[in-house]
Amino acid sequence: MRQSLVVGNWKMNGTRASAELLAKGIITGLGSNDAAIAVCVPYVFLGNVGEIVKNSRLELGAQNVGDKPSGAFTGEISGAMLSEFNCKYVLVGHSERRTYYGDTNESVAARFSQAQAHNIIPVLCVGETLEQREKDQTFAVINEQLDAVINLTGISALSKSVIAYEPVWAIGTGKTASDEQAQEVHQYIRRYIAVKDQAIADKLQILYGGSAKPENAKGLFAMPDIDGGLIGGASLDAESFLKIYHSI
Ligand code: PGA
Repeated sequence: MRQSLVVGNWKMNGTRASAELLAKGIITGLGSNDAAIAVCVPYVFLGNVGEIVKNSRLELGAQNVGDKPSGAFTGEISGAMLSEFNCKYVLVGHSERRTYYGDTNESVAARFSQAQAHNIIPVLCVGETLEQREKDQTFAVINEQLDAVINLTGISALSKSVIAYEPVWAIGTGKTASDEQAQEVHQYIRRYIAVKDQAIADKLQILYGGSAKPENAKGLFAMPDIDGGLIGGASLDAESFLKIYHSI
């Protein structure tokens, strides 16, 4: 059995005070759900939010990690630095990083590898744009995104990672993939990995992301290959994030 997981991605939002309040609000409503839960917060709030989540089930994550171990790379944050803040997870290859900041399949693979070098679980984000979907390139795009990582790290590295399928056309747009559309791609990803390693595929947590909200989470999470969600906008409000979490 795979443990379900819900991850919030706060992106570039909030203040130190609002981040602290949000973390406290989430912890208050965790209840006794068996699913795991995490928040990926802006780097500068890792210390404060880290203190708040310390004795709770809410896990801490970051939104990216440098593709090199250390050195003259102004503006980057290394895996070693993130591990000092007890980050359990880090997003790599989020479509906003790929689209606006030039992260490539190769640099994403290097970031994935840097995270694992510090025992941080990379949440590898994959997904197609609307144009790619309309041209029937969805699976080919996902193959390339997965292959870049597998070629660098080997298939066994996926046993210590999470995949997030996030169709780019659904991120922040209010357009969610239907339960069936999402399931189709999740199943595809699991089968693609299974051809290389069945045991890893069976255990791999594959999250859905893209305009997930309290109203659509239950249907998505009921799909056999959807193991949870990566939640952007709706994770900025404790109540809606918790509603999504408790839909698992
Ligand atoms: P969204 O973002 O839930 O606001 O669509 C998801 C994500 O970008 O991870």
